[in-house]
Formats: sequence, structure tokens, C-alpha cells
Amino acid sequence: MRAPVRIGVMGCADIALRKMLPAFAASPHTTVTALASRDAAKARAAAGAFGCAPVEGYDALLARPDVDAVYVPLPIALHAPWAERALHAGKHVLAEKPLTSRAADTTRLLALARERGLVLAENYLFLHHPAYSTVRELVDSGVIGEVRALTASFTVPPRPADDIRYRADLDGGALLDIGVYPLRLASLLLGARLDVHGSVLHHDRPTGVDVGGGVLLGDPRTGTSAQLLFGMAHAYTACWQLLGSAGTIALDRAYTPPADHQPVLRIERAGVVEERALPAHDQTTAAVASFADAVRRAARQCAPDDAAAADVLRQADLVDAVRDRADIAAT
Ligand SMILES: NC(=O)c1ccc[n+]([C@@H]2O[C@H](COP(=O)([O-])OP(=O)(O)OC[C@H]3O[C@@H](n4cnc5c(N)ncnc54)[C@H](OP(=O)(O)O)[C@@H]3O)[C@@H](O)[C@H]2O)c1
Repeated sequence: MRAPVRIGVMGCADIALRKMLPAFAASPHTTVTALASRDAAKARAAAGAFGCAPVEGYDALLARPDVDAVYVPLPIALHAPWAERALHAGKHVLAEKPLTSRAADTTRLLALARERGLVLAENYLFLHHPAYSTVRELVDSGVIGEVRALTASFTVPPRPADDIRYRADLDGGALLDIGVYPLRLASLLLGARLDVHGSVLHHDRPTGVDVGGGVLLGDPRTGTSAQLLFGMAHAYTACWQLLGSAGTIALDRAYTPPADHQPVLRIERAGVVEERALPAHDQTTAAVASFADAVRRAARQCAPDDAAAADVLRQADLVDAVRDRADIAAT
């Protein structure tokens, strides 16, 4: 497949209209064919701005032969059922994070995608920011000595009362919507062998969802640990610090930097602080290019990306373990 990958979008989600649709439309690697909504008028109003076809209903989107891949930015409980239908319809899938609510569903869907030679990807945009390869190079070059620990937090202020994140029936809550970011970061920076040693979730009785929490992770082979905080009843934070035997590296605005934002790595060694400004990078554009590349590789029947699938599954297992081990504080 040399032509742009033809994308169908499932639902007029805020993240789709604000970030992903503009990126799909601007990319030379993708073209937006259709935008589906449960509501025909909503689809018409939104599709006009992107020059694509409005579609009523998600099944109608999956029935279109001019759609190679679907982007699924639905409430979290709907990711698995619609990703599964899309795979059965022969479409590649880019699903919003988290790909599913339960690792068992992730396992099943990854197997289905593999069996059908289709791409199934999870949309963590920050993984496409080169700031993280710079951090990897710094760590590998020994700038902070041996890595000992990570502290990270991602917290946001309360959302409007009707937000999907307050809907228990749609698998809302802070762990699945926000906590998944520092968890993914911990695997990225500390490696694959992280166990959950403890977690706490703050359960909000009126809504029935968790609105915050904390996690302690550890690597039993090395003693490396991570302390993570997340929430949606908090002041805004999106920062982390990697602590080594000889120094620290820290980053702010870690997960959703705007395309023109220059990340500043704060490196501290022996009391000397260096602030290293990195080039701005549009991680959304990069994520779109990466997905299109994966789809093209699949269309050429290249070997499936087992490492990417293993990362997705490991993340799902970690999220399950955090939830299953959690002490619940209810208010
Ligand atoms: N990667 C990122 O940076 C990022 C950022 C924000 C959010 N997200 C993820 O993206 C997903 C969507 O988040 P969002 O804030 O954009 O959501 P949102 O604005 O509430 O949109 C969700 C969409 O899902 C559709 N939908 C289908 N069934 C629904 C139901 N029963 N209730 C409500 N909506 C329903 C609706 O589209 P129609 O009415 O048009 O059918 C709605 O517009 C979540 O998984 C979230 O975690 C990712």
C-alpha cells in the first residue's frame, strides 16, 4: 500500500476533533475518509470541517470499503467491543488509550489482529516524542549513574459533571484514563519487569469511579522502584524524576506537550544543575505516521511487530495488577 492509509473515525470525540482528525487530515500518510457518529447531524457538522463523509452509526463506518483503518476514541468500555468488530470487518485499528479495560480483552484482541494480519495499536502519544530517546541515551551513557527509582505524577483538575470519566458503566475513572500514563512511563524508563507492590484508589461514592490513586512498583531483580500518583480531583501536574546513584533527570509537561513546546530536561549531578532544552516535536503527527507505517507494513505482509504487541499486553497486565491489588479509600 503506497497511497495514504484511508482512516475512518468512530465518534465525534473531543480528542478526535481537537487533535487526531487535524493530524490525520494534515499527514501525507493518511487521509480521512469518513467520520461516524451515533447522531447523523453531529457527524454532518463535524465531517464538513475535514472534507470527509459523515456516517450515521459505527457499523456503517465498518461496512465502508473505502476505510482501511479505524480510529477508536470512544469511552473506554467501548474500546474492546468496537475494536473487535473492526478487526472482524478487516480494518486496522488505532484505539485510544487504554486499548481495553482488562488484560484478558487485550490478549484476545491482539491474537485476533495477529490472526487476521491487521494492526491493533494503542494511542499513547508521548511514546512518539524524541525527548524519550534522549533520556534513554543520557541514562545509557551513565549521566545519572545506576538507575534507582522513578517518581511520576499525572493529575488534572475535576472535569465537567457529565464527562465520560465519571461514568462507571463506561469504565471511567482516573486509573484507566490518567493513571495509565505514569504506568506506561514506568515501563518505558525502568523496563519490563515491574511488579505492583501496592496501590491505593480513591473511590468517589457519588459517581462510583476512582478519582485518584497511587502505585508502588518494583523490579525484583534490581531493586529499582517507582512511585506513581494520578488523579482527576487535583491541581495539574505532569512531571517525573528519574533518580540514579549519581544524579537525577526530570521532565515537566511530560505527556501532552503542544507541538511547539520545547521540553526542558533538568539534569542534576553533584549539586550542578543543567537545563537542557530539546527541540519541539509534534508527537501527534509522529504517532499518525507511525500507525500508517505499521498499516503499510501489514499490507505488505511483513512480520507482525511482536515487541509492540508485548508492550501493549504488559501495560494491560500492569493496569490489571494495580486494580486487583488496590486498597480502596471511599468518600
Ligand atoms: N491520547 C490522548 O492524548 C487522549 C486525550 C484525551 C482522551 N483520550 C482518550 O480518548 C477517549 C475519548 O475521550 P474524549 O475525552 O475525547 O471523550 P468524549 O469527548 O466524551 O467523546 C467520546 C465519544 O464517544 C462516542 N460515544 C459512543 N457511545 C457513547 C456513550 N455511551 N456516551 C458518551 N459518548 C459515547 C461519542 O461520539 P458520537 O456521539 O459522535 O457517536 C463521543 O463523542 C478516551 O478513551 C480517553 O481516555 C486520549
